[in-house]
Amino acid sequence: MEGVAEVVSESRVAAEPLLKARGLGKHFGPVQALYDVDVDLYAGQVTALCGDNGAGKSVLTKCIAGIYQIDQGQFFWEDHPVHVRSPRDAARLGIETVYQDLALADNLDIVQNMFLGRERLNNGFLNEDDMERSAARTLSSLRVTTVRSIRQPVASLSGGQRQSVAVAKAVMWNSKLVMLDEPTAALGVVQTRMVLDLARRLRDRGLAVMVISHNLNDVFEVADRIAVLYLGRLVVQDRASAFDRQSVVDYMTTGASSRTVQRSDADGGKPGQG
Ligand SMILES: Nc1ncnc2c1ncn2[C@@H]1O[C@H](COP(=O)(O)OP(=O)(O)O)[C@@H](O)[C@H]1O
Ligand SMILES: [Mg+2]
Repeated sequence: MEGVAEVVSESRVAAEPLLKARGLGKHFGPVQALYDVDVDLYAGQVTALCGDNGAGKSVLTKCIAGIYQIDQGQFFWEDHPVHVRSPRDAARLGIETVYQDLALADNLDIVQNMFLGRERLNNGFLNEDDMERSAARTLSSLRVTTVRSIRQPVASLSGGQRQSVAVAKAVMWNSKLVMLDEPTAALGVVQTRMVLDLARRLRDRGLAVMVISHNLNDVFEVADRIAVLYLGRLVVQDRASAFDRQSVVDYMTTGASSRTVQRSDADGGKPGQG
């Protein structure tokens, strides 16, 4: 029977989304960046958020991260209505975000970066040994093994290593949802692979992972689900197997697609809002 393998591979997936967003709206002055966005992010799944430049991907990410406050709509976390009004609210829920640019402080070393703003103290002094051990443990558990010393300044790392440290920093805090905004945009092939492997490892640990990318190679390599924003509207979300490259491009560039790739259990037909 066709569906069997699918059922097995999806058994690690919770039936209910970890995060449900309903009817999100966000404007900046006259610019309506998000319209009535419904999006679901599942534990144990990588969701790729796709869309052309200006579609609203970063704004949506920042709303979920509590950096921007939504004008309309509601978040549900593990099926409970929640407010996300600040990065602190997001962190309390277990939401962490890795941004393309602002990820790390160049002049600080890896340990200092991973604990920036959440330093561990012992009688009022920085507990360096403790922080160093935790940082090393987190990096090795994620198999980030290419850095020579966790005391080297972040400025000396390659782009892929920097992203890996930024991701490790994000997952060190019992996070349940990690969002990566264009994590591979500035990376070469090998480094891109390293970051995508890391995204998969987080998923395999049961985290919900959202990856923003407009590189369709990355998207199809890593995504379990795909959601597409078009001019601030979420026009489709479904399992990755319900799409092919052309249909994703269609959704990204026109907001619609006439292509049907594969029957989807969710709605018995075309990729849908499911
Ligand atoms: N802080 C802001 N102030 C005003 N407009 C903004 C702001 N942030 C984003 N926008 C606008 O919102 C829209 C979506 O932007 P963004 O989410 O950054 O797109 P992308 O999908 O490329 O990440 C764009 O029209 C952008 O100009
Ligand atoms: Mg962006």
